[in-house]
Amino acid sequence: MELQENEISIMPRIGDDAPDFDAMTTHGKLNFSEFADGKWVVLFSHPADFTPVCTTELSGFAQRKDEFEALNTKLIGLSIDSIHSHLAWVNNVKEKTNVYLDFPIIADIDMKVAKLYGMLQPNESETAAVRAVFFIDPYMKIRLIMYYPLNVGRNMDEILRVLDALQVSDKNKVALPLNWKRGDKVIVPPPKTLEEMEERIADSAHEKIDFYLVKKELV
Ligand code: BEZ
Repeated sequence: MELQENEISIMPRIGDDAPDFDAMTTHGKLNFSEFADGKWVVLFSHPADFTPVCTTELSGFAQRKDEFEALNTKLIGLSIDSIHSHLAWVNNVKEKTNVYLDFPIIADIDMKVAKLYGMLQPNESETAAVRAVFFIDPYMKIRLIMYYPLNVGRNMDEILRVLDALQVSDKNKVALPLNWKRGDKVIVPPPKTLEEMEERIADSAHEKIDFYLVKKELV
């Protein structure tokens, strides 16, 4: 089945409303916005069940589920596989490794959700979703998107780091510098008026490289 141009051109962007959908999952039928229920959501796709890289990745999500929960975040996976395949794979991973993939995994056999979220990238694969990660905030806005190809697994530390960074940035109205992690200094937004700039120049309380690059501790 060849994908039509109008089916693959939708690419969600940062700041867009997260498209809503109904889907069959390993936890039964759900509506995405009802599932989100006012929490952060990490929606991720994998190319196929019973494949090695995907098994390591989904196991990684399951093993660190507590850390996502601590960040008020729900997990939901997706691949273009049947519900029967998902159930058999979840059971197999549990039997072989004792890791239980206990978050919902969407059986997107008609590719509906994959197309909505730009997870089908036909020059990579016409039939399998790429490794996408969507960070969706409690207002159902897309805040950060990752797309990885089929042959490179994602980095769970980075997924958790950016989720934490988004939340810290929202809460404190700050930006986060290169390689920021919890406990590091944060960036005070640059001044927007001459008055703010003069105040910033006079400010000796914070680490100041110049008026536009000022760091502070989060208290
Ligand atoms: C994997 O998860 O190992 C995989 C899946 C699809 C294509 C290549 C690798």
